[in-house]
Amino acid sequence: MAYVWSDSLATGNPCMDLEHRTLLEQVNRLLGAMREGRGKDAIEPMLAFLARYADEHFRHEEAAFARLDCPVKLENAREHAQFRKTLAELQARYARDGGSAALSIDLKNRLGDWLVSHIQRLDRELGAMARAA
Ligand SMILES: [Fe+2]
Repeated sequence: MAYVWSDSLATGNPCMDLEHRTLLEQVNRLLGAMREGRGKDAIEPMLAFLARYADEHFRHEEAAFARLDCPVKLENAREHAQFRKTLAELQARYARDGGSAALSIDLKNRLGDWLVSHIQRLDRELGAMARAA
């Protein structure tokens, strides 16, 4: 099931929202490939994209949290570090064992679902802070 953008994911910061949408679109690309039985081929580009783009995005977002001195800025940064660790672990697994349906499913669960939950729990605080400022 593809991720669908909705207001429940909007942070109120247009740059962050655009970057979040780009990240979710990338996971959707993997899900589409999995449905067509090409999941294994989509893993490597997805990992490469995420390694670069998620890293850049986290830097932008952490700077925005710091500017607003958001109370959850440390928790946000900690969760980003956790994501980077998970991504590194999945990259290592891909390098060791190659692609598989099981790895595609883990990518969806541990990166895609993580992203949605993280945006809803923490990143949306950014909008709340900006509105209060
Ligand atoms: Fe975040």
